[in-house]
Amino acid sequence: MTNTANTTGASKLQHHQVDAVIIGGGGAGLRAALQLAESGADVAVLSKVFPTRSHTVAAQGGIAAALGNVSDDNWLWHMYDTIKGSDYLGDQDAIEFMCRNAAKAIIELEHFGMPFDRLENGRIFQRPFGGMTRNFGEKPISRTCAVADRTGHAMLHTLYQRNVQANTQFLIEWFALDLIRDSDGDVLGVIALEIETGDIHVIHAKATMLATGGGGRIFQASTNAYINTGDGLGMAARASLPLQDMEFWQFHPTGVLNAGVLITEGVRGEGGYLVNSEGERFMERYAPSAKDLASRDVVSRAMATEIKEGRGIGKHKDAVFLKLDHLGEDIISKRLPGIREIAKTFAGVDPTNDPIPVVPTAHYMMGGIPTNLDGQVVVHDGQSERVVNGLYAVGECACVSVHGANRLGSNSLLDLVVFGKAAGDKMAADIAASKAHKSLPANVADATLARVNRLESQSSGEKVAEVGLAMRQTMQKHCGVFRFPELLEEGVSAIQQVAQQAQHLRITDKSKVFNTARVEALELDNLMQVALATMQAAHARQESRGAHAREDYPERDDTHWLSHSLYFAHEQKLAYKPVRLQPLTVEPFELKKRVY
Ligand code: FUM
Repeated sequence: MTNTANTTGASKLQHHQVDAVIIGGGGAGLRAALQLAESGADVAVLSKVFPTRSHTVAAQGGIAAALGNVSDDNWLWHMYDTIKGSDYLGDQDAIEFMCRNAAKAIIELEHFGMPFDRLENGRIFQRPFGGMTRNFGEKPISRTCAVADRTGHAMLHTLYQRNVQANTQFLIEWFALDLIRDSDGDVLGVIALEIETGDIHVIHAKATMLATGGGGRIFQASTNAYINTGDGLGMAARASLPLQDMEFWQFHPTGVLNAGVLITEGVRGEGGYLVNSEGERFMERYAPSAKDLASRDVVSRAMATEIKEGRGIGKHKDAVFLKLDHLGEDIISKRLPGIREIAKTFAGVDPTNDPIPVVPTAHYMMGGIPTNLDGQVVVHDGQSERVVNGLYAVGECACVSVHGANRLGSNSLLDLVVFGKAAGDKMAADIAASKAHKSLPANVADATLARVNRLESQSSGEKVAEVGLAMRQTMQKHCGVFRFPELLEEGVSAIQQVAQQAQHLRITDKSKVFNTARVEALELDNLMQVALATMQAAHARQESRGAHAREDYPERDDTHWLSHSLYFAHEQKLAYKPVRLQPLTVEPFELKKRVY
């Protein structure tokens, strides 16, 4: 990295030049960085937290791959399950790419040193997960490789250590503000805030990757870390790039009541099950074949229905129980040690004796920044797609789209490593093929500095915490597990009003110490883009598909809605593009009614 400095207005502006800058130090960003560093590229990973605190660390239950270690398996069965799980909105070429490459990705991780749990015969341990089946839906299969209930933790630390070894540079506790785009629309790097000092940096790169994770903090009840503020999506929206399929949010069935903390689906994979206030295993009614291992959208809707119909547990009848005491202390201690701790800390129960009160909780954003299979960001103009030169996106902030309208559990860690690697390879090839860096536009940081300085100078206006709360309450009420026409209609104007308030934020704590208040205000800018896109796309889609369940349009409508939504923030406009139904090398999977 080469460095120079000058002064603009109140801020010291520092310039750096690298081959590649990766924004985000989670699983996807680190997997891509490793490819780049090992190819000899000069790569910097910029992260607002220490990389091993990225949200990948919180992934619990595992990573899917048809290894066949427990029983026969086949990547085509995995592909079928993923397409069906996506309610046919996933692109079949991308899904084939991910499932075909899954076993290789796991073996790579193993060779990097990831400490997978083992079976008696020494092979990697695999457990059942929702929607994962043998022989095209016949019965549940053990396909999810795990490190107890801390798989993401093990993966992230493994990737971080490999990157240290490969000499990847880290810009730690730097907050990315805006992409740099020139008049050709090419991306030439990023403007960032060094959180500790308040200095603003211009990072000039041949290749820029967004790997910033999800934006699940738009909801009040969320399994997501506080850092999941949709920063990459905010930057893309401000750079006039579209956001795809934002109406599709996954509500994980088992968040701890009133805490939001995740209880892994691995609990049900190990044999745990849900019961209502009558002690009934109600999933048998909703998904007679897969039961508690149906896909997450199906299980979450079943739970919401039980609660709505008065069969919820507890004083307010607003949760159901997850029962796992019958698994025995040995299995719980060996395979689910973190869950036991979480249940004790956040629900006050020891699950070896008592059930855990759980509710569907916002967990994962299926939508994101549209990309191709190489991780290049693409813009669809109604007819054809063009690549945004210099810009790549991977992981939860991207939409490739392998998860469609509903992701299967344990496919997200897989998505991170398969597409992180593919995008890292493509960036390395593009860097090798390019000569010099393109010139930066004049006054490259002006718009960003104006945005940051507006916050500094605002002496009256809205409090960040109050506007953030209004946003979260609005999203929770108007855009939840079930979606109702009046609530969506009101939700659009309500969130637009909150967005207006967010235009006039003031920071009450102007001390330069760690710049926490500034960062929270800037994060809210990003969350607002995610919330606006979500509400408007949900309001517009007049069908029920995967996680988008409308009371007024209860059926999937392939005639009119077999398409990806694209939300253009600068025009507040939605457009649509067709789902890619043609896989890369195999026959397409026909559209069917989805039953579990
Ligand atoms: O339930 C879980 O362990 C979460 C896994 C995932 O979201 O893939």
